[in-house]
Amino acid sequence: MVLVSSAPSTKAKLCTSIAALTLQCIVATLAAPIALPGCPEACGSIAVPYPFGFRQGCFRTGFNLTCDETRQPPKLLVGDGAEVVDISLTDGTLRIHSKMVSIWLNTRSNQSDGLWSAGLTDEGPLIVSIDHNRFVAMGCNVLASLIASSGDYVSVCSVYCPDRPWVSDTSCSGVGCCQMPIARLGLPSYDLQLGALNWRTGDSLRYGAVFIADQEWLARKAPMLQLNYFDNPYKIVDSTLIPTLVEWSLHVGDDGKLYWGRDGFDLYEHRGSVSVNCFIVADGLYIQKARCNCSKGYEGNPYIANGCQDIDECQRPDIYPCHGTCINVPGTYRCLAKKGITSLPGLITVIAISAGSGILFALLGIAKITNKLKQRRAKKLRQKFFKKNHGLLLQQLISSNKEIAERTRIFSLEELEQATNKFDQNRILGGGAMALSTKASYLINMW
Ligand SMILES: *[C@@H]1O[C@H](CO)[C@@H](O)[C@H](O)[C@H]1NC(C)=O
Ligand SMILES: *[C@@H]1O[C@H](CO)[C@@H](O)[C@H](O)[C@H]1NC(C)=O
Ligand SMILES: *[C@@H]1O[C@H](CO)[C@@H](O)[C@H](O)[C@H]1NC(C)=O
Repeated sequence: MVLVSSAPSTKAKLCTSIAALTLQCIVATLAAPIALPGCPEACGSIAVPYPFGFRQGCFRTGFNLTCDETRQPPKLLVGDGAEVVDISLTDGTLRIHSKMVSIWLNTRSNQSDGLWSAGLTDEGPLIVSIDHNRFVAMGCNVLASLIASSGDYVSVCSVYCPDRPWVSDTSCSGVGCCQMPIARLGLPSYDLQLGALNWRTGDSLRYGAVFIADQEWLARKAPMLQLNYFDNPYKIVDSTLIPTLVEWSLHVGDDGKLYWGRDGFDLYEHRGSVSVNCFIVADGLYIQKARCNCSKGYEGNPYIANGCQDIDECQRPDIYPCHGTCINVPGTYRCLAKKGITSLPGLITVIAISAGSGILFALLGIAKITNKLKQRRAKKLRQKFFKKNHGLLLQQLISSNKEIAERTRIFSLEELEQATNKFDQNRILGGGAMALSTKASYLINMW
């Protein structure tokens, strides 16, 4: 890439725009709060955007969390003390650390029950995410089931154990460990059931551990987890924190601040605002659930009044490119082409700069060749017209007669052009003495 002489100023502009960008980022965080006025925006390093909050008056009903500030660093907790490690406004999720549940089977019973719970309230609005999690069981020769409060089975998987499961397979594929998707019934908690597979007389106690885990985490961690489990099941069950994705939404009907707006659901906080959209995420028989997001070109927290603010695209040229004058308008930006670039020399310069000087020379070469071709074509045309207008006959006539030849001369166009000062009307001699063929390229003067 060849840089023109203005390179230093270009660099300076880049630096100032980078500085402006950093400044803009700081301004943006100051200008667009994520929590209600006067409410803390974080617990330790975890951002707490509204509708979540941990102080009185700082959360929407059902979205109260606890910030344990006695710990260093402070911990954000939900339900019965499950740690919250991330809240996503765009995905509508909460990442929590849940526990493994261990279940014993003994010779007296073929089946034992349990409970998966993080202390999330039955009324919601937090439920286990169906899309992000897997139901997992580890153990030997057991059938594990996840059961909804209605009694419906939502996930069942069986674990078989050959002699040495921990060395034969570590991919949680049903040998020593099994995993299954969960049926479309996301709930705050589930009942568990562990049954024996081919119970044989003489079998001693059986033990199994079940949990609900983020499937992406599971894909990475399952091999190590399985190895560790068979190494020391009790220790692993007690000490392993399982990342689980919890989903949240606003309950239409329960929440008086939600109403049918012009384009679907809306929040009273910003009725009809162009910067916010609210939409139904789950349309059940009795409950409809909604979430909101900022419209395209806006960013921030859609759950608070004026929470979605216009993105100043001109301050982020890396994401929103503009080679000209950038003008920010609500929701988008306009890019006006730079003056000068529209002119041909400007364009050639730009092309030359971007493609290197080689192209410039190539362009100059092409221009020269084109010019030569033009001249040659014009000369041919002149000769053609000379013939067409009986010029050759005249030429032969002139040269065949010595007397005429002495008094006559055929001028070339160039000579005439010079003599007549480019055919200045005042210099052209009058009468029929001059034969000026309209299209002719030769002018013949016989006197
Ligand atoms: C949320 O509020 C309810 C009712 O006041 C309370 O029982 C619960 O413990 C609170 N949850 C958290 C995580 O603070
Ligand atoms: C366990 O299952 C076996 C057959 O699978 C059955 O014969 C036995 O009665 C069951 N025991 C109990 C306690 O349910
Ligand atoms: C907001 O959410 C809706 C529904 O999921 C989606 O179609 C839309 O693209 C989202 N808008 C933005 C700006 O992310």
